[in-house]
Amino acid sequence: MYFELTEEQIAVRDAAREFAQKELLPGVIERDEKQEFPHEQIKKLGELGFMGMMVSPEYGGAGMDTISYVLAMEEISKIDASTSVCMSVNNSLVCWGLEKYGTEEQKRKYLVPLAQGKIIGAFCLSEPEAGSDATSQNTTAEDKGDHYVLNGTKNWITNGHTASVYLVMAQTDRSKGHRGINCLIVEKGQKGFTQGVKENKLGIRGSDTCSLQFENVIVPKENRLGEEGFGFKFAMQVLDGGRIGIAAQALGIASGSLELALRYSAQRKAFGKAINQLQAIQFKLADMATEVEAARLLCFKAAWLKDQHQPIGMAASMAKLFASRAAVKCALEAVQIHGGYGYVKEYHVERLLRDSKITEIYEGTTEIQKLVIARYLTRE
Ligand code: CAA
Repeated sequence: MYFELTEEQIAVRDAAREFAQKELLPGVIERDEKQEFPHEQIKKLGELGFMGMMVSPEYGGAGMDTISYVLAMEEISKIDASTSVCMSVNNSLVCWGLEKYGTEEQKRKYLVPLAQGKIIGAFCLSEPEAGSDATSQNTTAEDKGDHYVLNGTKNWITNGHTASVYLVMAQTDRSKGHRGINCLIVEKGQKGFTQGVKENKLGIRGSDTCSLQFENVIVPKENRLGEEGFGFKFAMQVLDGGRIGIAAQALGIASGSLELALRYSAQRKAFGKAINQLQAIQFKLADMATEVEAARLLCFKAAWLKDQHQPIGMAASMAKLFASRAAVKCALEAVQIHGGYGYVKEYHVERLLRDSKITEIYEGTTEIQKLVIARYLTRE
């Protein structure tokens, strides 16, 4: 078993680290405060190949492996989780789904500009009354022969305003349950498609989250992804991969918290010495470092399985379950180590704490990850 990264993977990690320091750190506090979407930064990430990292170069992507994706997500998330969630949704939920299940025409039309970062995508599954219980879709896609008529509301959509392309799950035949759900590609600007106001969130405030309304939106049949009735399984498969991205985001929040705590505790003096020489602080740092290391290994394991084309469901949920809890714990401890300074914006750790919480909620709550893992453990 090798724990070494390849030269290529190290180069990706270093490029992401440099980008985060140079392009994301300046202005991250202001963007968070003003809830400003990082338009310029996302554009530059696209130019670097980070918006379609795992897509084949044939379709405009960077052709990298999933380990590289985890490395880049960690580095970007250490500094700005609002940017990394946009990156994660575009990479894992939208581009991956299109590359795996799209027709050649769909790939040429949508995947190429998405992978090049020229446009952004959104994944639309959650509804006002269908979050964890994702099979209970109320949005309908009525089959009208050569097109569907889409009606309904989607909630908590990342990139809701900024996306140009939306993958929308909708119920076509309720009598078939989840096997009657389709995934449709919807373009911004289509008649009857509107976006709600941006959500005023606790964390990841720079990211663009809103609801979407569809009122008699006409979607041509050629915009269906996969076979008729494949939409729910498509969403579940895509989310398995997405959970690796969010696990890596959580890892970044945890390791970013540790880095800030190490730096502060080396500089801050109390009782005649740097506080990192006090056992009370050392115990916290040791716990945080162990959480980070374990989260990173789980992320790498899930990413490695994906690169080997092996089943990832349980590994992805374990990575997300553990890393999201590590993010919350490490951010909380980083605030504690900073004392009063941790409670104000200039020291960044209060933002990491606010940002950490969402990793236990989106792409399946902590409870959903446990349910998925338990099903693998107990299935007959
Ligand atoms: N891959 C492929 N197929 C899968 C699958 C997977 N990982 N998981 C389930 N399926 C299939 C099942 O095999 C089953 O098909 P068959 O009947 O043909 O066998 C079908 O899907 C239904 O599965 P279940 O019976 O297990 O469905 P369920 O209703 O009991 O529960 C669940 C499924 C795991 C709870 C699921 O609903 C779930 O993951 N919920 C959470 C949804 C979620 O993560 N939402 C996040 C929104 S996106 C987001 O947050 C993005 C963002 O903005 C950052």
